[in-house]
Amino acid sequence: MNTKGGCGKTTVATNLASYCISQGLATDLFDYDVQGSSSHWLKARAGDLPAIRGVAAHKPPEAGITRSWQLRIPAQTRYVIQDTPAGHVGFDLVDRVNESDIILVPVLPSAIDIHSTANFIRDLLLVGKARARNKRIAIIANRTRVRTRSLNTLERFLSNLDIPVIAHVRDTQNYVRAAEQGIGVCELADRTAQKDIAPWESILNWIQQYDNETDAGPASVTLPVSV
Ligand SMILES: Nc1ncnc2c1ncn2[C@@H]1O[C@H](COP(=O)(O)OP(=O)(O)O)[C@@H](O)[C@H]1O
Ligand SMILES: [Mg+2]
Repeated sequence: MNTKGGCGKTTVATNLASYCISQGLATDLFDYDVQGSSSHWLKARAGDLPAIRGVAAHKPPEAGITRSWQLRIPAQTRYVIQDTPAGHVGFDLVDRVNESDIILVPVLPSAIDIHSTANFIRDLLLVGKARARNKRIAIIANRTRVRTRSLNTLERFLSNLDIPVIAHVRDTQNYVRAAEQGIGVCELADRTAQKDIAPWESILNWIQQYDNETDAGPASVTLPVSV
C-alpha cells in the first residue's frame, strides 16, 4: 500500500506473487485497483507457468454469487497478496488494514515520494490503527540507484517508528520486461535478472518469520450462498 501512484505497488504485488509461486507456495493475487493492472498482468501470464489465482476484487461479484464467495480463499492458499490503488484513504484503508497481517509500503527515493509516504505511514498508524491492530509494516525502497539524502531521512523517521526497510529493489528494465509477460523478475530466463531475485527472497523471508504468529491452520472457507 501507498497513497502515492507509480511507487511500485503493482510491481511489488506481482513480483512477490511470482516469487512465492516459484517457491511452491500457493498464492492468490487480489486486485483492488479499478485500473486492474495486476489482473492485466495475470492475463498475460502463460498457461504453462505455475498458476497464481487472481481475484478482480475491484469489481462487483458476478450475478449469482455473493461478495464473500467472490473473495473466498481456498484452503490450499498459502498467501494472499492484495494490490491496492493510489489515493487509498478513509474506510478503504481501514478495510485493507483489517484484512491484512502484513502491510508492505513501496517508496521511490524522491523527496516528494518520501514526504507523501511519511504522511501515508502516519495515516496507517492513526486512521488505520495498524499498530493497535498488531499489523506488521515494512518499507520496500523501489527503483534505487544511489542512496539519496531523502532516503536516509526517511530511514531515520522510520527507525523512530520501528518500521524496517526490508528490501531495496533496483531500477531496471527487467521489471518492465517481466511485467509485459505476466511474470516476475525471478522467472526471467536471462542471467542479467539473477541479481534482481535477492530483494524478493528477503521480503519472503521477512514475511515468513511471522507465519507461525499469523497462521491459525488452514484458511477458513466461506460456503457459497446463492443470491
Ligand atoms: N524497480 C523498477 N525498475 C523499473 N521500472 C519500475 C520499477 N518499479 C516500477 N517500475 C515501473 O514504474 C511504473 C509504475 O509502477 P507500478 O508498480 O505500476 O506502480 P503503482 O502500482 O504504485 O502505481 C510501471 O511502469 C513499472 O513497470
Ligand atoms: Mg498499481
